[in-house]
Amino acid sequence: MQRSSAPLIAPETRPYFCVVFFVACISFILISGVVFAGTLEPIKPSPAPIDNPQTDEKIELGKKLFFDRRLSGDGTMSCATCHIPEQAFADGQDISMSYPTTKNWRNSPTLINSGYRKFLFYDGRAQSLEEQALFPVMSAFEMNRNLDFVEEVIRGVPEYVADFKKVFNAEPDRKKMAMALASFQRSLVSKNAPLDRYLKGDKRALSKDAIKGLIIFTGKAKCADCHYGATLSDDKFYALNLPENTDFKDDAGIAATRRFVAKISGFKEYRDLNEDPGRYLVTKNKKDWKAFRTSSLREVSKTAPYMHNGIFKTLDEVIDFFDRGGGEGNKSLKPLDLSSEEKQYLKIFLVEALTGEDIVIKLPQIP
Ligand code: HEC
Ligand code: HEC
Repeated sequence: MQRSSAPLIAPETRPYFCVVFFVACISFILISGVVFAGTLEPIKPSPAPIDNPQTDEKIELGKKLFFDRRLSGDGTMSCATCHIPEQAFADGQDISMSYPTTKNWRNSPTLINSGYRKFLFYDGRAQSLEEQALFPVMSAFEMNRNLDFVEEVIRGVPEYVADFKKVFNAEPDRKKMAMALASFQRSLVSKNAPLDRYLKGDKRALSKDAIKGLIIFTGKAKCADCHYGATLSDDKFYALNLPENTDFKDDAGIAATRRFVAKISGFKEYRDLNEDPGRYLVTKNKKDWKAFRTSSLREVSKTAPYMHNGIFKTLDEVIDFFDRGGGEGNKSLKPLDLSSEEKQYLKIFLVEALTGEDIVIKLPQIP
């Protein structure tokens, strides 16, 4: 009995214990900061799958297909209609453009660096550019083109037949069209951004203010908990509970698209659906309700409006959103309590450090 009430630490060793405990706490805080926040990395060449290596000729063929309006049902749209080269291969709208007489329901993301993504689309329903490429072609509200039919259309163009023979030693078909489109998109890489030069050792590549922003990004603002690596994305999915886009609630065309996508994704109550269920449509896992893939932040100065529903027009609005701890009831974020100066530095970092050289595309001759 007496023993159990004896102090755990002898009185004479208490000061030492306090010092050791203090050092341990500090180390834990320092180490945990390093462990939880991911590190930023310079961009590397975009990895291509073994069965679809990059070649100049394949990229060139993919580029032709990318700009060819034959890929849409009514001949008015190409991939570049919604992924415009001068707009960082996005389209500058909150909710993207769509096939005539229909409405789209999500924002058009940039295609720059899409070759690095583990999952494609905001809900990650495709896992490679090859798998992704035919979705927009056949989508009722994007290009609305029957795939059997488009194969015959492309086979009817002698220059394409010659191109496919040269690149694949085969006739045009949907699979090879997708491979060529994927190769072209894989060639769209952010080049020589100041962050890359800075991370490779050129300490003058960033201004003083941008460096302050970088420290806030990886520190107090915790952005690098999710935005890290070469693309500044962990390729994971989080429900940030963004505000709904009001157009999204009231527009009958968008509602039709939402119900259509939900229905073909096997969502039973698709008729009553008033919001975008995000990753849930893919996994049917409750934890993925309204979860979306962490966006890459490269070229972010050029990709407004932001988020899957284009709800924010400016980076200031995005930063304010994260500062107040995200949307109502979310479990992914906490309020940050950033000063207006800190927010300013953060924005300077995003704009200055992550903008690479302009990607200049020489428009192809469409056969
Ligand atoms: C009518 C507009 C429109 C057209 C045309 C269009 N897209 Fe898209 N694209 C979008 C929208 C909107 C999304 C996001 C959809 C989502 O996440 O559900 C998207 C997403 C993508 C993505 C995923 C990017 C990422 O980061 O996840 C790729 C890759 C892509 N499109 C390539 C293409 C290709 C290739 C074509 C032509 C065959 C094409 N798109 C045609 C609007 C369009
Ligand atoms: C918990 C993970 C997480 C943290 C922490 C986080 N983000 Fe994000 N971020 C996301 C997700 C997920 C999206 C995509 C949301 C969507 O589209 O609905 C996103 C999107 C963005 C976008 C939009 C990019 C675009 O092109 O649309 C910006 C900008 C952004 N984040 C900046 C930041 C900044 C700055 C911080 C720190 C203050 C931060 N993020 C912290 C997960 C996170």
